[in-house]
Amino acid sequence: MSLEKLKKLVTRNEKIAMLTCYDATFAKLSEAAGIDVLLVGDSLGMVLQGAENTLSVSMQDMEYHTTSVAAGVTNSCIMTDMPVGSYEQDKETALLNAKKLMAAGADIVKIEGGGDIVHIARHLIDQGIPVCAHLGFTPQSVVQLGGYRIQGKTDESAHGIMEDAIEMDKIGVSFVLLEMVPAVLAKQITESIKAPTIGIGAGVDCDGQVLVIQDLLGIYTGPASKKPEDFKSPRFTKNFLAEQHSIQAAIQAYVTEVKNKNFPSAQHSY
Ligand code: KIV
Repeated sequence: MSLEKLKKLVTRNEKIAMLTCYDATFAKLSEAAGIDVLLVGDSLGMVLQGAENTLSVSMQDMEYHTTSVAAGVTNSCIMTDMPVGSYEQDKETALLNAKKLMAAGADIVKIEGGGDIVHIARHLIDQGIPVCAHLGFTPQSVVQLGGYRIQGKTDESAHGIMEDAIEMDKIGVSFVLLEMVPAVLAKQITESIKAPTIGIGAGVDCDGQVLVIQDLLGIYTGPASKKPEDFKSPRFTKNFLAEQHSIQAAIQAYVTEVKNKNFPSAQHSY
């Protein structure tokens, strides 16, 4: 599944189904279930390492898990997160680290933010590295954002996210990922830019959807330090295993609901 083929899906009005993946077993299973893009997300800091957020994830972690995922697939597109501290400071460091992730098996890297890092994204793209820009709620800025909060609720904030999306689109990013923004804003952005949009908590009108595999299976119960009973799943998640008999069937059900535009419903959107 090349980036070109993914763009053709969008042209045909077919939604892109993306899912996080951190190892070869789940990569094989997800590919067989019809996932278009496997995201080696730095969410692995939370769902694999038990941390409160993604801030402790290292380049070594991302290289290791990208290599593991790449070993399990034959043709899925692999997107890998650049972890915090690996790209924001200067464009040379960003390029060096992006090349390491591509060498590990990534087809495209994802970076978080707009304005301040547009020059970094531009440098990567100029050097032949495909980039996805992650906007809206950006988990690497969870402290600055004051916690896990929906973004783009005020006119000013919505305008800022729209501007960032347009800027990133102009410099040629391959995708814009929108996390936890009002569905109406995600729709406007999707209609305003060329790059396909991928949503998580961003409504059904994005060009594709992404979920964290542990959320899709209904098995994430918060950081290791917290009691499972104190954890409440975010609104945008859905347990697809609840009505299926196997993990592969659950992933297939997710793919079908994304492609049929049944997921996310209003109940899973803001
Ligand atoms: O790291 C991750 O899994 C992500 C998703 C939440 C989109 O960035």
